[in-house]
Amino acid sequence: MTSYDRTILITGGAGFIGSHAVRHFVNRYPTYRIVNMDALTYAGNLENLKDIETAPNYIFEKADICDEERTAELFAGYAFDAVLHFAAESHVDRSIQDPLAFVRTNVLGTTVLLNACRNAWDKERKDTLFYHVSTDEVYGSLGREGFFTEHTPYDPRSPYSASKASSDHFVMAYHHTYGLPAIISNCSNNYGSHHFPEKLIPLMINNIRNNKPLPVYGRGENIRDWLWVEDHVRAIDLIFHKGRKGEKYNIGGLNEWKNIDLVRLLCRIMDKKLNRPEGTSAKLISYVPDRPGHDLRYAIDATKLKNELGWTPSLNFEEGLEKTVDWYLNNEDWVNQVTSGSYQQYYEQQYLKR
Ligand code: NAD
Ligand code: DAU
Repeated sequence: MTSYDRTILITGGAGFIGSHAVRHFVNRYPTYRIVNMDALTYAGNLENLKDIETAPNYIFEKADICDEERTAELFAGYAFDAVLHFAAESHVDRSIQDPLAFVRTNVLGTTVLLNACRNAWDKERKDTLFYHVSTDEVYGSLGREGFFTEHTPYDPRSPYSASKASSDHFVMAYHHTYGLPAIISNCSNNYGSHHFPEKLIPLMINNIRNNKPLPVYGRGENIRDWLWVEDHVRAIDLIFHKGRKGEKYNIGGLNEWKNIDLVRLLCRIMDKKLNRPEGTSAKLISYVPDRPGHDLRYAIDATKLKNELGWTPSLNFEEGLEKTVDWYLNNEDWVNQVTSGSYQQYYEQQYLKR
C-alpha cells in the first residue's frame, strides 16, 4: 500500500477554483493524498476533473459540509492533516435571491468543518492547518482611489459577502479561542476555464457565441480586479506551505477593469475568433437594471504576499482572456451541459423577470 506524506481535505473541489486547485495539488504533490469533498450543487461538476480522476493520490467524496455526522466520519476515516476550504455558495446575485442558502453553507458549513478539525487534531501537533479561501468582497466597496490591505476593516454589503465575512470571523475565532492553526486568504475576481456561466466573463462569452443580449448592470461603471485562476492557485500553494499561521493574505491581479470596458474587449476578441466583422458583438450590449447594493470598486494591495512569499501574477490579462475564450469555444459540450436544466430557470429569474 502506498503511504502518503500528508492527507489533505479539499472542499468544493468540483467547482471553478477548487477544481484548478485539486488538479494542481494532485499533479504537483504525488506524495500528498488529496480527498475532494463536494456536495455537487449546481456549481459542482466532476467533468472539471476528468483528467485526474484516476490519479492514485486522488479520492472524491460526495458530501455536504453542513452534514456534521458525515463530516466527522470522513475525518475519522481519512485522518486529514490539513483542510483547504473552497466549498461555498459563491454568486452575489443568487445571494440576493436566497440569502439563507449562503448562511447555511458559508457560515454553518465552515463552522462544522472547524469543529471537525478541533475535535480531530491534537493541540500539540505542528503540522495541521485549516486554510480558508475567502474573498476581497468582505472589505466592502472602494471609491475611485485606494486599495484593500489586510488591515482594511470588514464592511460586507451583500448577503454573499456578509456570509463570507462571518465565516472569516469564525475561522479567526477558532484560531484565537481554541488555538486552531488557521490561515485566510482574500482574493479578487478570478477568471479562466471551467468558470460557471452565471459570472460576468463566462456569461458574456456564452451570450456572444449565441447572439444573445449582453446584460450590463447599471452603466457598466463598476470596477473589478481580475486574476487568472491558476495564479490564484499558485498563491494558495505558497501560502499553504509557507504562510504564517493566524495571518491573513490578500491576493489580487493588479488589473482593474470597468465592466463595460471588459465587455467591449471580450466583444472584440470574440469577433476575431468567430470571424465576425468588427463591432458585431458589441451591438448585443444591453444595459439592464443595476444589482441592488452593487459595490462600485474592488482593488487589492497584495504587497504582503509579494514581500513575504515572492508571489506576483504571471499572466497578462488580454492573453489570459484569449486563452479563456478559446477554452469556451473548444468546450461547447461542457457549456451546454452546465447551462441545461436549472440554469435556464435561474437565467429567466435573474434577467428576464426583473
Ligand atoms: P463555485 O461556486 O464555482 O464552486 C463552489 C463549489 O462548492 C461547488 O463545487 C459546489 O458543489 C461546492 N459546494 C457548495 N455548497 C457545498 C456544500 N454545502 N458542501 C460541499 N460542497 C459544496 O465557487 P468558486 O468561484 O470556485 O469559489 C470557490 C471559493 O473561492 C469560494 O469560497 C469563494 O467564496 C472563493 N472566492 C471566489 C472568487 C471568484 O472570483 N470566483 C474570488 C475570491 C474568492
Ligand atoms: O471579488 C471576488 C468575488 O468575485 C468572489 O468572491 C465571488 O465569488 C465572485 O462571484 C465575484 O463576485 P462579483 O460579483 O464581482 O462577480 P460577477 O462575475 O458576478 O460580476 C462581476 C461584475 O460584473 C459585477 O460588477 C457585476 C457585473 N455584472 C455581472 C453579471 C453576472 C454585470 O454587469 N452583468 C452580469 O450579468
